[in-house]
Amino acid sequence: MKPLRQPRRPSRRPERTEVRRLPDRREVWVRPVHPADAGPIAGGFALLNEEEVRRRYLHPVKSLDPAYLRRLVNPEPGRSFAVVAAEPLPPGQALVGALARLSRDPDGDGAEFAILVSHFLAGQGLGRLLMDRLVEWARANGIRSIRGDVLEDNVPMLALCRLMGFRTERKTAPGGGLVRVVLDLDAPRKRRMPRR
Ligand SMILES: CC(C)(COP(=O)(O)OP(=O)(O)OC[C@H]1O[C@@H](n2cnc3c(N)ncnc32)[C@H](O)[C@@H]1OP(=O)(O)O)[C@@H](O)C(=O)NCCC(=O)NCCS
Repeated sequence: MKPLRQPRRPSRRPERTEVRRLPDRREVWVRPVHPADAGPIAGGFALLNEEEVRRRYLHPVKSLDPAYLRRLVNPEPGRSFAVVAAEPLPPGQALVGALARLSRDPDGDGAEFAILVSHFLAGQGLGRLLMDRLVEWARANGIRSIRGDVLEDNVPMLALCRLMGFRTERKTAPGGGLVRVVLDLDAPRKRRMPRR
């Protein structure tokens, strides 16, 4: 068994709040999820389209299960982390437009991510920003690799993963192909190519 890696002290805390002006001029706060976000996240779910829900959950979902939502907004310290992009208002009042989550494996040094940037905010760099924040948290918490399962027709997510240096492994699932994407955090970081 590989020895557990000592958590690295990050230069900036992954749990910080960052104010971002998006290309469409909207301002968002990129910050850790807060228990008071539960209502806005549940309400915002109703505004998502079927395709983004399918891509996020890999199957149709009509509403968020209350127990799942409770876990989502109350990450267990050291075991899971969730970051949101929200309106610049206190949690509970702010609409939440994007959320990314990382859950550490119970018995290892890997972790699984999930992300959704709603179509209201997509294409403005938040997917990359939130994924980078998950990677920062993973590195700071001694995680060696992060992974996710992505539908093979999910071109935006696969492109984002490629950009970040994830490797891919083909998987199959009932009703459609899945690709497992894995980022080894011991590997050298990939440089971002300039925007076309
Ligand atoms: C995939 C997703 C997270 C991307 O978020 P986003 O905020 O739109 O992404 P960004 O603006 O940060 O784009 C980062 C990179 O992703 C890729 N990308 C994003 N949208 C793309 C699109 N429509 N087509 C192709 N590539 C795309 C590009 O490489 C882009 O880099 P570039 O802008 O330098 O070209 C978002 O579309 C989403 O949440 N989709 C639905 C849920 C989902 O698929 N979740 C993943 C399963 S866990």
